[in-house]
Amino acid sequence: MDSQQSALLQRRFVLMTGKGGVGKTTLVAALAVHAASLGMRPLVVELGHRESMRSVFGVDDIGFKPRDVGLGVHAMSVDVDSAVLDYMLEHIPSKRVAKSIVGNKVLERLFAAMPAVGEIATINKLRQLEAETSSGGQRRWGPILVDLDATGHALMFLELRSVIDNIMGAGPMKRLVEETAEMLADPETTRLCLVATPAELPVTETIELYGKLEGRGTVTFGSVFANRMPHVPLSAHSVAALDEVEAAAGAVGRADVAADVAWARVALRGAEAARAQIDRLRAAVPLPIVELPQLPAARMDAGVLGRLGSLAAGGVQ
Ligand SMILES: Nc1ncnc2c1ncn2[C@@H]1O[C@H](COP(=O)(O)OP(=O)(O)OP(=O)(O)O)[C@@H](O)[C@H]1O
Ligand SMILES: [Mg+2]
Repeated sequence: MDSQQSALLQRRFVLMTGKGGVGKTTLVAALAVHAASLGMRPLVVELGHRESMRSVFGVDDIGFKPRDVGLGVHAMSVDVDSAVLDYMLEHIPSKRVAKSIVGNKVLERLFAAMPAVGEIATINKLRQLEAETSSGGQRRWGPILVDLDATGHALMFLELRSVIDNIMGAGPMKRLVEETAEMLADPETTRLCLVATPAELPVTETIELYGKLEGRGTVTFGSVFANRMPHVPLSAHSVAALDEVEAAAGAVGRADVAADVAWARVALRGAEAARAQIDRLRAAVPLPIVELPQLPAARMDAGVLGRLGSLAAGGVQ
């Protein structure tokens, strides 16, 4: 692999967060497809029962175990219940006892007593995946791309250490959380990427999340993706000519041309508004901002995902 390329993909973990619908799942999938094309062993981890990766890769089911979803990519879904059972199985020597704990009301009480248990179990799973080796002794997965979902979820996940500090003694769970928190905080190991579209709310939310996490030492940021940037429909030269064209069309009574000019102005205003939002983002967030185009494709096929991933990975970090 070209060592100059894809510094982001060299990390063990790439976490993706951003407001609803901005393209987190698409970009995780795109980076994974691109990583696979570079000969890496990407694992996509989707948190919760969202099942959105299923439709991106066109497979029937994605469960708690990594599965081949094609294009050289593996994917799994980490839901809280499976992660908690997994954690129990790892820490309670008897499978039967572990299962009965999960099966009865004890777990419910555990949840009530310690609301972060879902996150703990989830990070436990991530830590396990990171350490997995193949028969040749090399790391089985790299990079592990985590679709973190909404920004609130990202915050809870990344601020786990401080949550735990307040509620735990020195038991194995605390050690686990501390170890994993270190892994997530290490800039060589983990990067948190932010996704926004060039619109008011996603940009505001990105600026706010950056403000909350910056300087906390919980995680190092990777790229900020400005996804779905409209392409500028006209060159500066033709923009200047619009007034002339409009006047000429009016003079000869060509309403059709005037309508085209009006359409061009609307598209231009859209592109300018998008640019203004990205400028606002750039002014507030001193991170590399990687602009990704609005794609015309109705369906994100392998080629489209690969190209998007290549553009995304080509950015700094
Ligand atoms: N660059 C792009 N060009 C065109 N369409 C895109 C682009 N990026 C994402 N999309 C489309 O936008 C929609 C939302 O994308 P996606 O599901 O990846 O967002 P998300 O942030 O994961 O959403 P959610 O918050 O619901 O999980 C999808 O239909 C996807 O195909
Ligand atoms: Mg999604």
